[in-house]
Amino acid sequence: MPFEKVAKAKDIRPGRTYGIYKGYATVGLANVEGSLYAFDGWCSHGGNLIEGTTVLDGHDVVCPQHWGSFDVRTGKASAFPCRIPIDTFPVRIIGEDIEIDFPEGYPPRASHDEYEETIPS
Ligand code: FES
Repeated sequence: MPFEKVAKAKDIRPGRTYGIYKGYATVGLANVEGSLYAFDGWCSHGGNLIEGTTVLDGHDVVCPQHWGSFDVRTGKASAFPCRIPIDTFPVRIIGEDIEIDFPEGYPPRASHDEYEETIPS
């Protein structure tokens, strides 16, 4: 898939996460010390959004629902209760624009089947 323009580089500040809306999908965009990372914006543990108000702890994006986390570089779960990795996407800056390379057919049909069924209380 060709890269798609999603934001202006000046608007994505270090230490923050942002939501990018593509169809019915929400993609997180994080700036970690000047490096940009794009990832699936839905937590694979319980389907909570992990963008926008989400905390960044180094390269980990922390889900505000149960405080599990994912490494934005790889999508791997980095803290319990998260176990299932989330998708990540290549990001580049062209001039003033941030572009993301979404895979063919993205977003897939919405499904909660991939989320874990048990959410600890
Ligand atoms: S929904 Fe994200 S850690 Fe549970």
